[in-house]
Amino acid sequence: MDTKGDREMDSNKVIKVAMLGAGTVGGGVYKLLKMRQDEMYDKIGESLELKKILVKSIPETRKDVDPALLTEDFEDIINDEEVQIVIEVMGGIEPARTFILRAMNAGKSVVSANKDLIAVHGKELLDTAEQNHVDFLFEASCAGGIPIIRPLKQCLCGNHITEVMGIVNGTTNYILTKMEKEGMEFEEALANAKELGYAEADPTADIEGLDAGRKMAIMSSIAFHSRVTFGDVYTEGITKITSSDIRHAKAMDCTIKLLGIARDTEKGIEVRVHPTLIPTNHPLASVNDVFNAVFVHGDAVDDTMFYGRGAGEMPTASAIVGDVIDVARNIHCNCLARIGCTCYKNLPIKKMADIESKYFLRLLVKDYAGVLGNIATILGNHSVSFEKLIQTPVTDDVAEIVAITDIVSEDDFKQAMDELRGKSFIEEVSSIIRVYA
Ligand code: HSE
Repeated sequence: MDTKGDREMDSNKVIKVAMLGAGTVGGGVYKLLKMRQDEMYDKIGESLELKKILVKSIPETRKDVDPALLTEDFEDIINDEEVQIVIEVMGGIEPARTFILRAMNAGKSVVSANKDLIAVHGKELLDTAEQNHVDFLFEASCAGGIPIIRPLKQCLCGNHITEVMGIVNGTTNYILTKMEKEGMEFEEALANAKELGYAEADPTADIEGLDAGRKMAIMSSIAFHSRVTFGDVYTEGITKITSSDIRHAKAMDCTIKLLGIARDTEKGIEVRVHPTLIPTNHPLASVNDVFNAVFVHGDAVDDTMFYGRGAGEMPTASAIVGDVIDVARNIHCNCLARIGCTCYKNLPIKKMADIESKYFLRLLVKDYAGVLGNIATILGNHSVSFEKLIQTPVTDDVAEIVAITDIVSEDDFKQAMDELRGKSFIEEVSSIIRVYA
């Protein structure tokens, strides 16, 4: 028997793993575990074996998976006392939730990529892990292959983190990139994303900002040590963004991204996902195509940025296999449940009406003397002032106003816009998009 430090290395000892699901992500995990199989003993101090895989239908399962591992019955896994780690890559709330809870209640550690589940039931899952003294790890649930959960929970835990912000949905980032670089409209860019397999047949969760919202809920809970669930996140998608908005944003030295923004403020946690103008010189402005990036500000570390592939078979498998090895090392060192739930605060969620932002505004107005003055007066009465403004004639009697406001509360801005909309000199409010501030 070898030793490494004071750890015993025993090649006869094998940690056995089961996987729930064998779709795209499961297939990637299967491949990666196989690719690294010979190195597991050196990485962990014991070997690692994938013993069983739960699938819906054995005949319909991908052919590159060893059929001897397949089962259609979860009871085969839960009742297998040799299985110490369960990887959940089924997705969805049920039966994933029940299976994960049962696995942990049976003393098995769980690695999951399931953002839909964790963003809503995170507390229940982490409490169950703690009660059973097992690990529940979920690095792959946020931003695919980009390490972010572990950096927030471990490497940056000496900081007071005040902001987590990022591009955490690859599908929408691809669509916005196509709209910006090739002048496509939203529907055309979406069709292009579907053709390439970047958007699903039903793209709602991506294009409406729900997928990003779930990731922001999970990251905020960890960054700010206070439970944030999906229902706490304000979400607004990219379906109303036009190539014209993007062109006008460019004229103001900005680009449009679907940003997740989470902040720990004096009025509570602010957490939102919406299209946002960011200056073209901001590091997130150059994150294009399907890439994701998460920007974290801590009081000691200052600004940090994590960049990479937020989805896909192998990047997601990278995060999952990293978690599996981590759990296996904990099993080997008999130190499971070392880091569980880190929500030791109970902070309020800030109302959307109380957030402060700059706003990008496009208006068609009647073009006669005094209109601009009237607009400035109405907005000024609600504390809205302009940082930048461009006016261009559209026809003989209609002009377009494109402006960015100074920082103002969402509530004040909404009231100003409600008043403006009723005025006879306003032909159309073409767009309102928040600006990063
Ligand atoms: N559909 C997601 C995206 C990946 O486009 O980023 C899985 O969360």
